[in-house]
Amino acid sequence: MIIAVDGPAGSGKSTVSKIVAKRLALLYIDTGAMYRALTLRVIRQGLDLEDENALVSLAKCTKIGLEGKDNLCVLLDGEDVSLAIRTPDVTANVKYVARVPGVRHEMVALQRAIANKGGGAVLEGRDIGTVVFPNADYKFYLDASPEERAKRRCKELIESGQTASETVVKEDILKRDDSDMKRNVGALKKCDDAIFIDTTGLSIDGVTEKILSYICA
Ligand code: DC
Repeated sequence: MIIAVDGPAGSGKSTVSKIVAKRLALLYIDTGAMYRALTLRVIRQGLDLEDENALVSLAKCTKIGLEGKDNLCVLLDGEDVSLAIRTPDVTANVKYVARVPGVRHEMVALQRAIANKGGGAVLEGRDIGTVVFPNADYKFYLDASPEERAKRRCKELIESGQTASETVVKEDILKRDDSDMKRNVGALKKCDDAIFIDTTGLSIDGVTEKILSYICA
């Protein structure tokens, strides 16, 4: 079974996708983590973020894996980068990597391979229902108000020991929405056959039960 969960940053898709995957005994695949891992390598190597050919070459020779308990450990050429990919530097620069068609081609192939090898998965990202698995068994598109999304992201950042202001995080989220929605490939958009869930004001349990009610109906 393939379940696609798309939506913007802070819509609640990561938290809920992890729980849904666990409840259905499916693999959880955080596709954003893959783009983040490649971005981390680009930054570490000091590559020019505007040099698309260099980014594609790097994507082709980089090994990105999701392993460990519940598939939550992100490996970059064998190194655990689960925490390193969540820094503001990576978050601010991932758009340069995610907009390159050749990079997306590599990432999409990897995402399909991991999901198919696992015999089914819950994949969360921006283009899962539109590009990665257009024939997914279930497609969900989650969204919430920018204020609520900023509040959630802020809480996550503070919990992980980083400092954050809701105003700054909201600005960052809106900028990311803009670049995610306007890029030429794999743009964030709700596909016609996706079930839309506005998670504003809903609890994690509320969203989880809503998703499961469609799948287990
Ligand atoms: O889900 P996230 O915020 O960790 O994702 C980080 C970035 O990766 C996000 O700004 C856009 C990009 N991304 C993408 O382009 N396609 C995906 N399927 C997932 C994420």
